[in-house]
Amino acid sequence: MNKIDHYREAETRIGALVRGLEDPVAAMASAASVLHELVPAASWTGFYRVVAPRMLRVGPYQGPVGCLEIPFDQGVCGAAARLEQSQVVEDVHSFEGHIACDALARSEVVVPVFDSQHTLVAVLDIDSHEPAAFDDTDRKELERIVELLSPCFDRQSQP
Ligand code: SME
Repeated sequence: MNKIDHYREAETRIGALVRGLEDPVAAMASAASVLHELVPAASWTGFYRVVAPRMLRVGPYQGPVGCLEIPFDQGVCGAAARLEQSQVVEDVHSFEGHIACDALARSEVVVPVFDSQHTLVAVLDIDSHEPAAFDDTDRKELERIVELLSPCFDRQSQP
C-alpha cells in the first residue's frame, strides 16, 4: 500500500467508528488509534483540545507522554491553532518554538480540527522520528479525515 492507500483505509475505518458518535473523546481516541496504526512514520499520534481561549490541553493519544498544555503562542500545535492552518514541519529543530515532548522527534504534521460550525475545537498532531516524514499529501489526507470528526464535537457544549 502507498501513503494514500493507508490514509483511505484510515478514512474508511474512522468514518465507520465515529458515524453518529456524539462523543468527542471517543472519536479522538478511535482516530488516534487508527492513525497511529496506519501512518507508518508515526511515533506520536494524538489530539490537543481547545480548553480555554488560546490554550490547548492534551487529549487522547498514542505514543510517549505528551506535554499537558500548549498555549496558542507556543509550538507547532500552537501555530496550527493560532493560524487555524495545518503545519507540515520537515525538520522540527528548524521550527522556532518547537516543543520537544519526544527528544527523538524529527518531523511533524499538525492539522486543526473544527466542529460543524467551523469553530476550532482541537488539533491533530503526528510526530515522526524520521526527517521530512510528512508532505502536502499527508496534510490533505489528514484534513479529509479530521472532517469526519466535526459532528462528534457539536454537542460537547451541551450537557
Ligand atoms: N511538538 C509539539 C508538541 C506536542 S508533542 O510533540 C506530543 C509542538 O511543538 O507543538
